[in-house]
Amino acid sequence: MTFNALMVRKNDEGKTSATVEQVSTDDLPAGDVTVAVEYSTVNYKDGLCIGPGGSLVRNYPHVPGIDFAGTVEASDDDRYKAGDKVVLTGWRVGEAHWGGYGQKARVNADWLVPLPEGLDTRQAMAVGTAGFTAMLAVMALQDHGLVAGNGPVLVTGAAGGVGSVATAILAAQGFEVAAVTGRPETAEYLKSLGASQIVAREEINETTKRPLEKETWAGCVDAVGGDMLARVLGQMKYGASVSAVGLAGGMKLPATVIPFLLRGVNLLGIDSVMQPYDNRVRAWGRIAKDLPMDKLEAMIQPAVLSDLPDLGRAILKGQVKGRVVVDVNA
Ligand SMILES: NC(=O)c1ccc[n+]([C@@H]2O[C@H](COP(=O)([O-])OP(=O)(O)OC[C@H]3O[C@@H](n4cnc5c(N)ncnc54)[C@H](OP(=O)(O)O)[C@@H]3O)[C@@H](O)[C@H]2O)c1
Repeated sequence: MTFNALMVRKNDEGKTSATVEQVSTDDLPAGDVTVAVEYSTVNYKDGLCIGPGGSLVRNYPHVPGIDFAGTVEASDDDRYKAGDKVVLTGWRVGEAHWGGYGQKARVNADWLVPLPEGLDTRQAMAVGTAGFTAMLAVMALQDHGLVAGNGPVLVTGAAGGVGSVATAILAAQGFEVAAVTGRPETAEYLKSLGASQIVAREEINETTKRPLEKETWAGCVDAVGGDMLARVLGQMKYGASVSAVGLAGGMKLPATVIPFLLRGVNLLGIDSVMQPYDNRVRAWGRIAKDLPMDKLEAMIQPAVLSDLPDLGRAILKGQVKGRVVVDVNA
């Protein structure tokens, strides 16, 4: 039996190319659950893995796709049976292991999460790793004392995947959201997700010599890192927390420790890849409950497997708005 998949091959000169190919089911990697994939999505890491790899991919030929949702076709593990709906994010699937950019995937049962009640497989991939991580970031802020009514919560890289979902979840929970974007044309979109304030990227993406500025933000979901994160730390309210999610603006952190020492600011690291199972289930449950589905629908850009090479390049340039949903069977 064969199925369609986006295959990345590397030639003798070390150049990679990605095309949709017919792949034999015999070539699927080892694993205890075979899934008929329905939808996948495009994350920043996918952009790297569709292209030259950014050293994430171990072996070629390779099927990228760091997340997918679908239906179990066969299972050697008691926790899953044929017909179960499942979702997968992380565990280096799509990097070190074949991923979701194919009509079939075979994975370790430990990596799967049952699709939560209230979400279908398309909605799960509209959320995807980006939205799942946004939920982890919001949960971390709330676990560290964030409550509505303390002031605006800043979301950086707001028109991207993590930022869009974080904006919608926070707004739906009654938080005042200040959305940072470098694309002024996305202001209406961000307001439709619930942002009450738009902050221009250039207002906040340069470091300042002053380690502390006016106490402004009650919390922050940061998808950007670099100079912007360093600057934001000095603008946090006393005792407030920042969830550090991404590095779209750079991985250096040219900050001082003063906001930690004088304002008790917390910098919370958010990792979605190795996240323990119980917290994954908790996050997916919260997504199904707290993310308004009409807002999620407004973020979706539909795509098929053959669109992925272009989309991979676009996401690396910060040009993808919201969430791409890839129908692998279209
Ligand atoms: N920790 C984890 O487990 C985890 C999981 C998922 C993603 N991530 C990371 O989170 C980040 C965001 O992921 P994503 O899927 O949301 O990507 P995305 O859709 O490309 O969004 C990133 C956004 O950041 C902003 N941005 C891009 N370049 C920038 C720059 N040079 N300076 C300032 N802002 C910039 C843009 O937003 P505007 O156009 O609105 O300015 C862009 O849309 C990535 O770094 C990704 O690797 C981490």
